[in-house]
Amino acid sequence: MRSAAETGTRMHEDMALEPQEHGRLVARREGDHAIVAQRLHRVYGTGRRFSRQHDRIIAVDDVSFAVPRGTIFGLLGPNGAGKTTTIKMLSTLLIPTRGTATIGGYDVVRDERLVRRHLGVVLGGDRGLYAKLSARDNLVYFGNLYGMTQASIRRRVEEMLDLVNLRDRAGERVEGFSRGMKQRLHLAKALLHDPPVLILDEPTIGLDPAAAVDLRHAVAALAPAHTVLLTTHDMNEADQLCQEIAIVDQGRIVAQGTPTALKARVAGERRVVVTTAQPLDSRGLDMRAYLSSLRGVRGVNQDSSAMGGSALTILCADTAATLDETLAILRTQGIMISGVRVVEPTLEDAFLAIAGRSLD
Ligand SMILES: Nc1ncnc2c1ncn2[C@@H]1O[C@H](COP(=O)(O)OP(=O)(O)OP(=O)(O)O)[C@@H](O)[C@H]1O
Ligand SMILES: [Mg+2]
Repeated sequence: MRSAAETGTRMHEDMALEPQEHGRLVARREGDHAIVAQRLHRVYGTGRRFSRQHDRIIAVDDVSFAVPRGTIFGLLGPNGAGKTTTIKMLSTLLIPTRGTATIGGYDVVRDERLVRRHLGVVLGGDRGLYAKLSARDNLVYFGNLYGMTQASIRRRVEEMLDLVNLRDRAGERVEGFSRGMKQRLHLAKALLHDPPVLILDEPTIGLDPAAAVDLRHAVAALAPAHTVLLTTHDMNEADQLCQEIAIVDQGRIVAQGTPTALKARVAGERRVVVTTAQPLDSRGLDMRAYLSSLRGVRGVNQDSSAMGGSALTILCADTAATLDETLAILRTQGIMISGVRVVEPTLEDAFLAIAGRSLD
């Protein structure tokens, strides 16, 4: 068996913490960024022939970013992009092959213990909770492990059970919990010692839509009191929660910015979709030619709609002006409109435009 130093993994994944004698931790350096990654790089060996070049996978390839205090930052990317590997390095669970990172000004390799005191981590999956213990007893157990005082454990456990809406089920064993309940308990556990920085790996994966909405509310409420780094495959989730997003693909950041800025990169992809009650063809109208001549219109598609009428899809720069003109001409022709939709570019569109393929 290889030692932890050889494999670059840490021996224990649970965050063992020092007692917090002086109350809440204060960052060593006052700075604007709670999380800083500088050219983080991680190579995995696969199998026995570890030393041979072709048996190595570059999971994270010189990734750099900085997360301003009190904000939510998203790492978005397809399977195998290197998201989990990046956050394991930031959480001190994996040693970078090269590059550096700091949490609250502390180095993730040199100041491992201090970094852990600053961090709450939710890695997801079933690990990290004791199935035979109740939700409350799990939190009490981890409070003790974190070195919290009995008084603060009593107070924080109840506060966290309230925060994640598990107070009513707190006495039940975790083995009987649904996935969404376990995920919320993971978040409560990560927040127990009141860390200023939270790292969440795909917090809503596997949850039903209602449970995902609940958890997103809980995550959104963490800022600005906390700084949050999360990973997700879900464009809409990143769009809703994050002030800034880095799109990761094959170990590299391929684009970074606010959700609005990323979507603006595909701003030409705005579409207006108008459906009519009757088919336009039957009236001998060439709407396509007319609409194509309007200013700012880049393309027009005319199909039959599911309801027996026509659907006009207009690719344009200014959706409001184009919609106005389209409705005006249809009205002057006495055509009944059965639906109107403006399709703004999504982050999915942005990813497609940037990475040249879809995000799945
Ligand atoms: N322990 C490991 N040993 C070898 N290769 C690994 C290991 N963990 C991850 N990898 C490889 O590193 C690359 C990045 O994996 P990682 O888990 O960081 O991606 P991810 O973005 O989190 O993907 P997902 O969205 O599926 O969770 C992948 O090619 C993966 O196969
Ligand atoms: Mg992952």
